[in-house]
Amino acid sequence: MEQISVIGGGTMGNGIAQVFGANGFNVKLVETSKELAEKAVATIDKNLSRMVKKEKIGETEKNDALKRIETATDIADGVKYADLVIEAIPENFDLKKKVFATVDEYAPDDVILASNTSSISITKLAECTTRPERFIGMHFFNPVPVMTLVEVINGLKTDESVTTQILDLSEKLGKSAVPANDSPGFVSNRVLMPMINEAIFCVYEGVAKPENIDSIMKLGMAHPMGPLRLADFIGLDVCLDILKVLYDGFKDPKYRPCPLLIQMVDAGKLGDKTGEGFFSY
Ligand code: NAI
Repeated sequence: MEQISVIGGGTMGNGIAQVFGANGFNVKLVETSKELAEKAVATIDKNLSRMVKKEKIGETEKNDALKRIETATDIADGVKYADLVIEAIPENFDLKKKVFATVDEYAPDDVILASNTSSISITKLAECTTRPERFIGMHFFNPVPVMTLVEVINGLKTDESVTTQILDLSEKLGKSAVPANDSPGFVSNRVLMPMINEAIFCVYEGVAKPENIDSIMKLGMAHPMGPLRLADFIGLDVCLDILKVLYDGFKDPKYRPCPLLIQMVDAGKLGDKTGEGFFSY
């Protein structure tokens, strides 16, 4: 596998492109405009420069990685030689469906199609293409160059050989790839989000202050970040959306989003990105 197309150069997409570029792969990064493509490359440049400063890589490695990353603003052009296409556009099924229909039309026959979705069904996305057996979830974590996990999600029809190739490839990126089967929230968010939601219920019911809830989980459970600090970092709107996916997917009241979470999202307190959530930034 040599040629990787990454669709979307936002938070996740530019990190994914960086990691592939830094590990010797040729990358086509597809964005909606030249400006956004340039912005994504500038972010990658800045992040690689930081790694040079920390002496994690040399100046030559940085420049080689950047040389391997080309951009495109047209999906047809961006995927025509791809061995693997990874989609990292916003978490919206209709948007992803449209993009995968175009990718499906122009990508080579033997391409593997992957989505970095954090909560949309891989089986459902796979059916937006004519080759669901070559479709898989590659769930990277933020920040991609730092976090070592790739949760590899098999759709109902994903071919076993595709899973094997993606697990091997992820290891070549220096990541630890862990397989799971398609199910609402996969493993990561199915386990994480109820914990975050429960921490929010503790605030809502006045059980303890946010800083004390986080201290208890950090000191007692050896979590590097408390659940409320993590919720702010992920974005409270994103947490709410994922809880809704779990609630809708299982129809189990244990996934009901805490009313306080809904209120905070309604009030625009979304965490780090708005400067206020459970904590101020
Ligand atoms: P983002 O909003 O930062 O970036 C999305 C990018 O896609 C934007 O730059 C946008 O211009 C571009 N885009 C939109 N439509 C496009 C199109 N038709 N063609 C090419 N580019 C297009 O979003 P983010 O946070 O990077 O999320 C992307 C995906 O990754 C979502 O599915 C999200 O659920 C998932 N994810 C996000 C994580 C996070 O912590 N942010 C963690 C794990 C997964």
